[in-house]
Amino acid sequence: MQTVLIKNLGKFAGQEVTVKGWLYNVRSSGKIMFLMVRDGSGLLQGVLAKKDVPETVFEQAKQLTQESSLAITGTVQEEPRAQGGYEMHITHLEIVATAEEYPITHKEHGVDFLAERRHLWIRTPRQNAILRIRSEIEHAFRDFFYQQDFVLADAPIITPAACEGTTTLFELDYHGEKAFLSQSGQLYNEANAMALGRIYCFGPTFRAEKSKTRRHLMEFWMIEAEMAYFELDDNMALQEEMVCYVVQRVLERCQRELKVLGRDLSKLEAIKMPFPRISYTEAVEILKKAGEPFVWGDDFGAPHETIISSQFDAPVFVHRYPTEIKAFYMKPDPNDPKVVLGADLLAPEGYGEVIGGGQRIDDLKLLEQRIAEHKLPQEAFEWYLDLRRYGSVPHSGFGLGIERTVAWLCGLDHIRETIPFPRMLHKMYP
Ligand code: 4AD
Ligand code: MG
Repeated sequence: MQTVLIKNLGKFAGQEVTVKGWLYNVRSSGKIMFLMVRDGSGLLQGVLAKKDVPETVFEQAKQLTQESSLAITGTVQEEPRAQGGYEMHITHLEIVATAEEYPITHKEHGVDFLAERRHLWIRTPRQNAILRIRSEIEHAFRDFFYQQDFVLADAPIITPAACEGTTTLFELDYHGEKAFLSQSGQLYNEANAMALGRIYCFGPTFRAEKSKTRRHLMEFWMIEAEMAYFELDDNMALQEEMVCYVVQRVLERCQRELKVLGRDLSKLEAIKMPFPRISYTEAVEILKKAGEPFVWGDDFGAPHETIISSQFDAPVFVHRYPTEIKAFYMKPDPNDPKVVLGADLLAPEGYGEVIGGGQRIDDLKLLEQRIAEHKLPQEAFEWYLDLRRYGSVPHSGFGLGIERTVAWLCGLDHIRETIPFPRMLHKMYP
């Protein structure tokens, strides 16, 4: 008998097939039992009629506990009232393993209780929908870059130098040498861009953030692109095209999942090019008009980002931040060196910064000066300085946080649900 995925059942209407999964829930009315079976791809109502199976099978089914694993075989029938539009009339039932009393019952549970059982929590329909959307988002990014002729160039995880400041480094012992978990693949991306032209990397990055917020993880995944001969405006144009592509893909392919989450689709449908672009200085004006006591030169906090982005339906680029608050590699604006040619993309609906990026310093002397000003050890950056010694060109890039993007597209309150096993402040079990 052919084993099929629940999500594909529609293709097998009228045929006899097998579904292998776990018992999610059960309803019984005397001579008929309704087994709600999940297989990871969807939820199926299996109808088990006493008259269709041997007495022993029906008795066995009555003993089935939540999350017992099983295989059901039967005929697929259209049933508009069932989830997914189909149900199965079971003729054969095989119990693979009977589950012990399952802790995540169908009543409400507190988030701490669920987080302690994350390895089981991910089996529930809501988490399933989120993780499926995450997967679609990741595929969409890869497809976008593939179509745009980018080369996928993986960056190392173990690194000898800091990219995003020295306060959030996870240190490790590399056979007696001091090393760090990567905060960003950017510096290696710059080298790869000089070798391959347009590249991206996609991998885990690490920040020993002391903050416990709904937006910060200690370990998160970042899509980072780097392009030779791209200036700030080229960089923003690429990003908006990329974001629109990914939003469109999720709208096209994740309708069922978005429905499970109750996502307001009109908010996603409003994401259209071009995205508004405002300078940091203009963003400060918006804050002042909103009555915020904000001083030019300070960095935005989450509440500031929310006020700024609430002015727009689409994501908004904020460019030309004060040099003082940005990383050492950011290129100063030749027209106003107090600011840099960097741009962050703020997502709508209060989701805050999802992309950080900009144009990099391409002048050797200036870069050496910045490394010194930021009290970084120049020896560790000699290879990076080489990129300015041997055929330096204007270049730009960016990094997009996958988890913040998932939170935004799914409409989630907290980043902890965006990754199978979140790493948060003082929390890494399971
Ligand atoms: O703005 P960030 O720090 O930029 C960089 O790391 C650049 N080197 C990227 C580049 O130009 N190649 O981080 C980029 C994005 C943020 O906009 C945010 O979406 C995400 O990474 N991010 C985090 N996501 C979850 N938890 C954290 N602690 C994050 N820190 C940054
Ligand atoms: Mg940033």
